[in-house]
Amino acid sequence: MLKRKIDTMQDMKINTKSKNSKNEYLNRINHIPKVLKPKIINLNKIYESYRNKNVMVTGGAGFIGSNLAIKLCELGANVLVVDSLIEDYGGNIFNLEPVKNKIKLNIADVRTYPTMLYLVKDQDYIFNLAGQVSHIDSMIDPWTDLEINCKSQLTILEACKKNNKDVKIVYAGTRQQYGKPNYLPVDEDHIVHPTDVNGINKMAGEWYHILYNNVYGIRAASLRLVNTYGPRQLLKHDRQGFIGWFIKLILEDKKIDLYGGGNQLRDFNFVDDVVDAFLIAGADEKANGNFYNLGGQSPISLKDLVKLMIKISGSGSFKEIPFPEERKKIDIGDFYSDYTKIKFELGWKPKISIEEGLQKTFEYYKKYQNYYL
Ligand SMILES: NC(=O)c1ccc[n+]([C@@H]2O[C@H](COP(=O)([O-])OP(=O)(O)OC[C@H]3O[C@@H](n4cnc5c(N)ncnc54)[C@H](O)[C@@H]3O)[C@@H](O)[C@H]2O)c1
Repeated sequence: MLKRKIDTMQDMKINTKSKNSKNEYLNRINHIPKVLKPKIINLNKIYESYRNKNVMVTGGAGFIGSNLAIKLCELGANVLVVDSLIEDYGGNIFNLEPVKNKIKLNIADVRTYPTMLYLVKDQDYIFNLAGQVSHIDSMIDPWTDLEINCKSQLTILEACKKNNKDVKIVYAGTRQQYGKPNYLPVDEDHIVHPTDVNGINKMAGEWYHILYNNVYGIRAASLRLVNTYGPRQLLKHDRQGFIGWFIKLILEDKKIDLYGGGNQLRDFNFVDDVVDAFLIAGADEKANGNFYNLGGQSPISLKDLVKLMIKISGSGSFKEIPFPEERKKIDIGDFYSDYTKIKFELGWKPKISIEEGLQKTFEYYKKYQNYYL
């Protein structure tokens, strides 16, 4: 741990020879509470805090947003889903089928300030998940990524500053903000040095939230998500993460190309665990002005993941191929995350094993694949 922090200090060009500056630095970055005990929470009590509350979910027709919107309806919240349903993005009206008569759906773009000014009024919570999520698209069209992932975040926050300073916002950040790790597992002390435009804009988006929390008192927190999987994810193309694409190929009994042998280690979260993390961060005032890593139970190589998926689904196969040049340049290699901070401060940890999560995922898609393929 100490070695890791000293590496980080060297990254940040802090003088590691001087005892004072080193101690000062360690004090500044040391987020772990002095008493090393994970926080114990009563999840039902947290759920209860959403009953009859007005909750807006941006990107709520997408993968994680729709699962969150469905859960919030179950908890008795008045849910407003805001989603632009831009073609080829993850928004899918079928995602909201179970709650179509319970939610309000506003097909709107978070880039539009007058719309946001109106929509943020009277909301108790905003779960801010709208985003352009394709890393490769962010390199092909950096302007759109900038507009949605960076500028729109200011639009939403400015709208709150003007019309709803009392709202609590939880923002969906990403592990992509860290870029290629200097050490593993990656904790929140790790330097952020993104490898693509998406990572840079998501980083800025996150920091606008922290800034508005600190300067204007608009309560906001950010969760840095790792690869999330589960029902309601886009499967149609391979530009929005590899899990959805692998699921599609497996359902169609086709061959998966594993880049670079598939030895890259990653950690994964089932979407229900991620939904709980949003609800916990929303309800806990301690989260305000903070960012937290989510992380999977244990890292697994892509090859082992694919083997497990094939076993659970009973279809599909894979072959190993060299990394395509355009993907290699932005690939982050092995990555897994340390979620100690959120475990100790807010009491979240992933509960669903990869086997159980994949089982639920394939059950869902086998039933509803027509809406996703
Ligand atoms: N899924 C993951 O593994 C993962 C990992 C890290 C971070 N995240 C973050 O979590 C959030 C949700 O991701 P997801 O996997 O559910 O993606 P998704 O594509 O399924 O959902 C994003 C939603 O945002 C909507 N959207 C995009 N631009 C919009 C705009 N301008 N106005 C309104 N709505 C717009 C899309 O239509 C889509 O429904 C994103 O911000 C993403 O960066 C996801």
